Amino acid sequence: MKSRAASRGVAEKSEEPRRVATVDLRSDTVTRPTAEMRRAMAEAEVGDDVYGEDPTINRLEQLAAEVFGREAALFVPSGTMGNQIAIKVHTRPGQEVICEERAHIFNYEMATLAAFSGCIARPIPAADGILSWAEVKKRVRPKIYYISQTGLVSLENTHNMAGGTVYPTEVANEICDAAHDAGLPVHLDGARVFNAAAALGKPVAEITRKFDSVMFCLSKGLGAPVGSLVVGSRGFIEQARAYRKALGGGMRQAGVLAAAGLIALEKMPARLRDDHANARFLAEGLAEIRGIRLDASKVQTNILVFDISGTGLNSAEFSRRLAERNVLANGIDAQTMRLVTHMDVDRAGCERALAAVRGIRENN
Ligand SMILES: Cc1ncc(COP(=O)(O)O)c(C=O)c1O
Repeated sequence: MKSRAASRGVAEKSEEPRRVATVDLRSDTVTRPTAEMRRAMAEAEVGDDVYGEDPTINRLEQLAAEVFGREAALFVPSGTMGNQIAIKVHTRPGQEVICEERAHIFNYEMATLAAFSGCIARPIPAADGILSWAEVKKRVRPKIYYISQTGLVSLENTHNMAGGTVYPTEVANEICDAAHDAGLPVHLDGARVFNAAAALGKPVAEITRKFDSVMFCLSKGLGAPVGSLVVGSRGFIEQARAYRKALGGGMRQAGVLAAAGLIALEKMPARLRDDHANARFLAEGLAEIRGIRLDASKVQTNILVFDISGTGLNSAEFSRRLAERNVLANGIDAQTMRLVTHMDVDRAGCERALAAVRGIRENN
């Protein structure tokens, strides 16, 4: 039998209470669309986007270009597709892509930079995931015909696996300027660039001005159910559109998704500071718990990573015990956990998560 909410349909289902018993801190990708987003999706004006005829997607792309101060933007189904399209446009097969060693493009995008662009990664370890030109420069391959050539530098802001760390704008600018002087384009994996902007108190256009292309996600802290955008010059986006089609990303009447994306882009950046304050609150609480190693002062945005080796538990067991207490979290490796705050976890949820960790420690 259908539940009452299901038989009442989407409009009423969207009015269900947003709070659920489980505190889900696995990622900011778990957010569910707001009631306003669901309404906008139901009412979206749509057309065939492969013909450029979806008015809602066109509006979203225009708004994204304006927000980032760029000529053009392209709506893509995922951050991975956006990054990989950008890499494809910027490089030629046989080239190298410089990135930080924990970068998403290197570790979590299914080696697509090799499979689709024919490139290899040239990963660099960096404290807190933040590269400097001094480190990048050492890995730029000399222009000698018998060695593979650097094709692209790619930065990640905020840096996910380093704990949501933020590039100081002058550091990113120096890398862009020097890379350009060396004839290299620079891409930004800005999946969470609005979190970076909130932490810095600057507009995204200002902190990304010098990058040749930027990918950002609507479906993470901004709360949309699906979608990312790539922004850049008109010529770059023209090529990107062709590669999107090649990858199967021509989505026809996807204005139903873009409608939620418009709300995400217009309204949600303003609330990211709440997520950052919750992450800091969690970090300060965790830092006081025996066996947990974490520098709370390094938590700048909505992601915190911490070492649990002092608890005697590995991350799989730690996650399992948290889940027993209705708190979901992921491990990064055997002794490192990651928590991510977002709009579906409020301060009370963070307090419950802290109580769950204390409970685990009292029992082991
Ligand atoms: C830094 C970063 N870049 C790119 C992505 C890819 O986004 P998607 O999951 O939409 O493919 C993610 C996803 O978590 C991410 O954290």
